[in-house]
Amino acid sequence: MNLFRSLLAAGLCVAGVLSASAADKLTVGFSQIGAESAWRTANTDSIKNEAEKRGIKLQFADAQQKQENQIKALRSFIAQGVDVIAFSPVVETGWEPVLREIKRAGIPVVLSDRAVKVSDPSLFVTFIGSDFVEEGRKAGRWLVEKTGGKAVIAELTGTPGAAPAIDRKKGFEEIISTHPEMKIIKSQSGDFTRAKGKEVMESFLKSPEGKQITVLYAHNDDMALGAIQAIEEAGLKPGKDIVIVSIDGVKGAFEAMAAGKLNCTVECNPLIGPQLFDLIKKVAAGQSVAKRIAVEEGVYDESQAAAELPKRQY
Ligand code: AHR
Repeated sequence: MNLFRSLLAAGLCVAGVLSASAADKLTVGFSQIGAESAWRTANTDSIKNEAEKRGIKLQFADAQQKQENQIKALRSFIAQGVDVIAFSPVVETGWEPVLREIKRAGIPVVLSDRAVKVSDPSLFVTFIGSDFVEEGRKAGRWLVEKTGGKAVIAELTGTPGAAPAIDRKKGFEEIISTHPEMKIIKSQSGDFTRAKGKEVMESFLKSPEGKQITVLYAHNDDMALGAIQAIEEAGLKPGKDIVIVSIDGVKGAFEAMAAGKLNCTVECNPLIGPQLFDLIKKVAAGQSVAKRIAVEEGVYDESQAAAELPKRQY
């Protein structure tokens, strides 16, 4: 029996509200995607630090970017009888069977950072994370301004099937589709990693259309940073010969902007540990919470990089 239900049975919890000391004794199972990017590492640190600060027992599992590892971790959280399960799903689909098992075990689920596609919305309680479609739109709007609506674009997409890869493409295309002189001529996954971003950018540049590319849109900063290396190795100037816009707002992106090698980063805030555990605490206590909780974010270009860099926390 999980903590909330056992406290209720013992009369230690009234009207769905846990006492402060009871909330502190929560056990939370968290399945993280992996450590594919600087963003992800900052997200993991934020979650672990916040759990430690609150004295919450955190069962943390790193799935090394594999859905099957996440499913195994979720099943082990059921077996351990944790109070709440939270996870960042690597891809959107394929979660229904395990989510039904969790529901049968009576354990509430909180989605963190990425959403799932399920036919039954009661399979999770709430989702806290960024609006990835809007991030794609922000990148598109910035690019329209920067290029005057003329661009031959290469796109480095995220992990296939992942919510941010699908949504960031969608939001970006929504904006550029209204500008007939903006075209994506290359689009391939760099799996959200720096190494893959570099490798795919090299192949873009070597392709017959490589010389036409005037813009790179990368679904995250790590892939953009890898691509910058590939562009330099090809004898071109990143940020000048090829305009680069990416997403996340990690320190490395601000350094690249300050050096004139990256033009814009759309912020995606990974430091959601405090908000996540506020939510988990409420969910564990049976309090009602919104189904969708968004994170506030901005857009930064090279003109703001030097001033912003010392303030970046991730
Ligand atoms: O889900 C958030 C995305 O995942 C970040 O943009 C990316 O860097 C990470 O790997």
